Amino acid sequence: ARVVVLISGRGSNMAALIGAAKDPAYPAEIVAVISNRPNAGGLETARSAGIATDVVDHKDFDSREAFEEKLNAAIDAFRPDVVCLAGFMRLLTAGFAEKWRDRLINIHPSLLPSFKGLDTHLRALAAGVKLHGCSVHFVRPEMDAGPLIAQGAVPVLSSDTEETLAARVLAAEHELYPAALALVASGRTRVVEHRVIVEPEED
Ligand code: GRF
Repeated sequence: ARVVVLISGRGSNMAALIGAAKDPAYPAEIVAVISNRPNAGGLETARSAGIATDVVDHKDFDSREAFEEKLNAAIDAFRPDVVCLAGFMRLLTAGFAEKWRDRLINIHPSLLPSFKGLDTHLRALAAGVKLHGCSVHFVRPEMDAGPLIAQGAVPVLSSDTEETLAARVLAAEHELYPAALALVASGRTRVVEHRVIVEPEED
């Protein structure tokens, strides 16, 4: 499957996907990385890995619709089967989510449906939860909603700060995202109402 990754920043999840896709047996190929920020660190990482990059700067557009029209054209140019959001920090319209329905996936740094939105690690600490983690899900118009494909849990330790907890979750994200994309890219996922059914691997 051909995959385009959308980023806004450092791109460590993008790098994990690129790393996994180096294995010829991996069912997805990262064909391009597109950023809405011209100075996103991940762009350089992608270029060094020999992957095509593009920038669609949201600041160049008056409306979300105009930005997304250009973004869609940039994505379509690479003819992807799947689009991965990896630290992409723009809210997308319902139209965008519908266009890519069940082919657009996102990683979020919490065990959804807990802690949607920003500052998830601080909020997990404040809530006193003992398990935290990350989720990969199909995107729906509602933010951080959508059928869950896979989740990874990590313990919350008494000694944790936002930084130590974030680092533990990020390490789990780097394992989870390539595994979840492999399920989707190999056609093993099926969305039934709000659940993702994973078909067993063929041999
Ligand atoms: C990750 O924690 C991701 O879950 C969240 O934003 C962060 C992006 O980090 N949506 P990176 O750009 O992948 O390093």
